Amino acid sequence: MASKVKRIGVLTSGGDAPGMNAAVRAVVRTCMYEGIECVGIKRGWNGLINADFTLMTGKDVAHIINRGGTVIYTARSDEFRTKEGRAKAYSTCELLGLDSIIAIGGDGTFAGCLAFSSEYPISVVGIPGTIDNDIGCSQYSIGFDTAANTAVEAIDKVRDTMQSHERCSVIEVMGHRSGNLAQYVGIATGANAVLVPETPWDFDKDVAEKLREARLAGRTHFMVIVAEGAKQKVDGTADNEIVGNGGAATQVASMIKERLGMDPRVTVLGHTQRGGSPTARDRVNASSMAYYAVELIKNGANNRVVRMWDGKVCDIDMAEGLKMKAKLSTEEQSVLKAMTGSYLSKEPTAEEMSEEELKEKIRSEIEAELRVQLRSEIEAQVRAEIAEEKK
Ligand code: F6P
Repeated sequence: MASKVKRIGVLTSGGDAPGMNAAVRAVVRTCMYEGIECVGIKRGWNGLINADFTLMTGKDVAHIINRGGTVIYTARSDEFRTKEGRAKAYSTCELLGLDSIIAIGGDGTFAGCLAFSSEYPISVVGIPGTIDNDIGCSQYSIGFDTAANTAVEAIDKVRDTMQSHERCSVIEVMGHRSGNLAQYVGIATGANAVLVPETPWDFDKDVAEKLREARLAGRTHFMVIVAEGAKQKVDGTADNEIVGNGGAATQVASMIKERLGMDPRVTVLGHTQRGGSPTARDRVNASSMAYYAVELIKNGANNRVVRMWDGKVCDIDMAEGLKMKAKLSTEEQSVLKAMTGSYLSKEPTAEEMSEEELKEKIRSEIEAELRVQLRSEIEAQVRAEIAEEKK
């Protein structure tokens, strides 16, 4: 039976992410496959407000699967946050006869979707697209894999020069509110310390101690990864406002210099992480999620977020999804804790030892003390004999 859905709009909103083009392409191609028309809305929600759109067919999405950025442009729309803005946007939907909108972006984009569909009879479906991977209801968002690989490649290059100069490097990665990228990249590059926005950092515990241990274990160059939104713990709170543009990394580096006497170098990876050709993983995930989104709409769904959960593409009610708070992967947290806290082999505490182990430890300590004592007794005796001979 032919689909009742006639026309779908697709837009990209918020920060761009590599793989967004692959998603737009898959929306267009699935629409063509299902006999639905697809309209590309330009510059995010602003395109709906300003009636800035283009009908898209196969030729419009040819040769874009491998391109970073988004061919339909993106924006953060303040006007769409207002009732007046959404009213204008709906008049474009009416003009175009849109049955539904697929919005590719982050949770801000989805919040916009929800406000829109609660006021007007328009169906919306969201697809997670942000390098931050900070959408609570999805374990994956388009662009994360490419951004992580871009960061790893850059950090490996920085490592070469740090190693040669035996220096400490402080590298800032993106992540205003989320440390997912920093944590993942930190594991992949073998960083000595990783600071994330979710947990305010304490210089002694989270940086100095780790660098000291690494130094004692013989390391001669050091790597600290800082998410741009990581904040210092101040009197138990996270109240110092350091956000973006190298502020966080610079602060950490100057403390390393002052307190540890090292001469660190700061590298801010910035927007390089948002560009570039998407990885195979991002292309495949983007294509699968976009295909799924069109199928959902074809089957009459509304207000859904397409998501990746336990390795599968599935969907969730948008309001429910927005309530889910983004969290750092606990598995990765444990891995990172072990990787950054094991430079020196740790002695087990007395409580952790069996009775036998404890006795053995005490015996060897006594033995060592006695040897020292015996040595000094023999030394005294030999000295006395030599002195006697000299007389
Ligand atoms: O795309 C998300 C993000 O990369 C955040 O990590 C960062 O804080 C923000 O975008 C910066 O975006 P822009 O420079 O476009 O304002």
